[in-house]
Amino acid sequence: MSEHLTVVSHPLVLHKLSLMREKTTSTAVFRQLLREISVLLAYEVTRELDMTTKRIETPIQEMDAPVLAGKKLALISILRAGNGLLDGVHDLIPSARVGFVGLYRDEETLQPVQYYFKVPTELDERLVIAVDPMLATGNSSVAAIDLLKEAGATNIRFLCLLAAPEGIARMKEAHPDVPIVTAAVDEKLNEQGYIVPGLGDAGDRMFGTK
Ligand code: URA
Repeated sequence: MSEHLTVVSHPLVLHKLSLMREKTTSTAVFRQLLREISVLLAYEVTRELDMTTKRIETPIQEMDAPVLAGKKLALISILRAGNGLLDGVHDLIPSARVGFVGLYRDEETLQPVQYYFKVPTELDERLVIAVDPMLATGNSSVAAIDLLKEAGATNIRFLCLLAAPEGIARMKEAHPDVPIVTAAVDEKLNEQGYIVPGLGDAGDRMFGTK
């Protein structure tokens, strides 16, 4: 992808996102909407995949048919909210390999700390799509991308649902080579690091926690 930031302002994406933002939307409906939007976002984040051709036979004649080139993609969920985006993307690319990065925020240093890391082999030969619904401060996203690069990934895209200008700037500074695809860019972060107007805590809304 050539652009550092792609905003997928498709009417269906925006409509579903507005439903997700409403505080009265139930956990079940929120999860379902996220799954539906993630399929549409996955369509955009995979737009420029490398292609090759394969000789096939239709019932009428032979042809060189376009197929995806290279190793299977790697989808990396940044826990825990990443799992909500992962499901829809995985529906669209069922043969993708899947990995997980677990990070929590140290309450004293406010820095992300790794507690889990399991990713597919040969990351250096795969397109890696890291997913996390909320790009807020960018701290955990930058840390997750750092870890993926340490594990060998060189071709990474970041897929989120909502981004704050602060998170986009932080990612652009730390990882200018990682394109971001999002459904919307909101106004700002509040003092607690929540996206404004946002949709609240994506993990809590997805899993019914507080
Ligand atoms: N994480 C969330 O889930 N929501 C925000 O608004 C910011 C970070």
